[in-house]
Amino acid sequence: MSNCAIVGINWGDEGKGRMVDYLTQQYDVVVRYQGGGNAGHTVINEKGKFALHLLPSGIFRSGVMNILGNGVALDCENLLKEIDTVRQGGVDITPENLLVSERASLLLPWHRELDALEEQRLKDKKYGSTKQGIAPFYSDKYQKKTVLAGELLYPDHLRAHLQDLLEWKNLILREVYGAKGYTMDEMMAWVEQYGQRVKPYVADTSRYLHQAQAAGKSILFEGQLGALRDLDYGIYPYTTSSNTIASYAPVGSGLPGASIDEVVGVVKAYSSCVGEGPFVCEWFGADAEKLRDAGDEYGAKTGRPRRVGPIDLVATRYGVRMQNATNIALTKLDILSYMDRIPVCAHYEINGQRTDEFPFPVLLDQAKPVTEYVPGWNCDISGVRTWEDLPQAARDYVEYVEQAIGCRIGYVSVGAERDSLIVR
Ligand code: GTP
Repeated sequence: MSNCAIVGINWGDEGKGRMVDYLTQQYDVVVRYQGGGNAGHTVINEKGKFALHLLPSGIFRSGVMNILGNGVALDCENLLKEIDTVRQGGVDITPENLLVSERASLLLPWHRELDALEEQRLKDKKYGSTKQGIAPFYSDKYQKKTVLAGELLYPDHLRAHLQDLLEWKNLILREVYGAKGYTMDEMMAWVEQYGQRVKPYVADTSRYLHQAQAAGKSILFEGQLGALRDLDYGIYPYTTSSNTIASYAPVGSGLPGASIDEVVGVVKAYSSCVGEGPFVCEWFGADAEKLRDAGDEYGAKTGRPRRVGPIDLVATRYGVRMQNATNIALTKLDILSYMDRIPVCAHYEINGQRTDEFPFPVLLDQAKPVTEYVPGWNCDISGVRTWEDLPQAARDYVEYVEQAIGCRIGYVSVGAERDSLIVR
């Protein structure tokens, strides 16, 4: 029996979806432990191409139990939409293969609205939110002003609790933002429309996981976004509002004492970043456009163009440390095939001083990338399936990155499909 976490090392969108999909075949249970409908894995398999935002990626494998843990922002609207889409792809989804923690908090309509209102208020100082309600949701959770999924099973209690929350929330919506606010009828209609459909999946998932572990089952903890978006360790305040790091997985899953035997960190062969905030290795102009188009770097949820640049070894080394990664999956190596020489952001320079340490967020604005180049391979590698068949220059690039970030690269991905993977 072993437990594994699969997490992003950088800013998210590293290609975790395809890696989770690959790894799920080795695990009995897949658990999401943080985040909500704000980011998306893309999974391509024999059933089609799916953008998953909330559903754990094990949903495509029969015999795998998928769990949305207590640390997740339970966005019922997006979850139900996703369930419908995946079902249309021919996948059965029932409480036999999906459970939702009774302790997961519900993301309510006002969270999404407040997210949009606050970004509007911030104007040119906005955080670049995906407006899925994540920041207002987690602030409410820490204020103990959310409804837990388990409350759906106790209608009288739920109504009274919602009434209390509504009065407080309307004060904020009206007084701070000049918005309309909500009525109790609207909220109960929402519960009827969405909550009732989620109710059958609600369970004591902590107990389920505990029993699964006792029975020798293996668990995969599935992270969303990446280390640099972690609330505590990322590029604050341009982070997300939850902990994306693997060490939060036991807490956000419902198995606080779980040991994680392996942490697979996903790193892309170049960098991308969505939204606002410092991004030291960023490219602009024609070079950026070429890389963006080659890598199809447009948001899975929003369609917005992602910022791109060469791999950032300073940030990646930091991400490896914060995730406590034991094995790295390097994805999208095939995208670099068009380059004669491969650029890497090898160091930062801050106020004339060269550094290899990822600095305190305030200093990131002053950091300049120090770029180095390694030879390219200039041929299509998307059909390669073994390490030995990779061109020497591509192997050299992988080994160069491995050495620079201080962690073994056990997987190299050369395409989006299930089998486009080299296991070293
Ligand atoms: P977040 O959880 O939002 O961080 O998403 P993610 O890390 O799962 O990444 P996302 O799915 O948004 O982006 C990865 C994209 O690249 C998807 O379209 C994948 O199908 C694709 N992809 C993944 N690995 C490879 C690869 O090795 N080569 C190519 N060409 N495409 C890949």
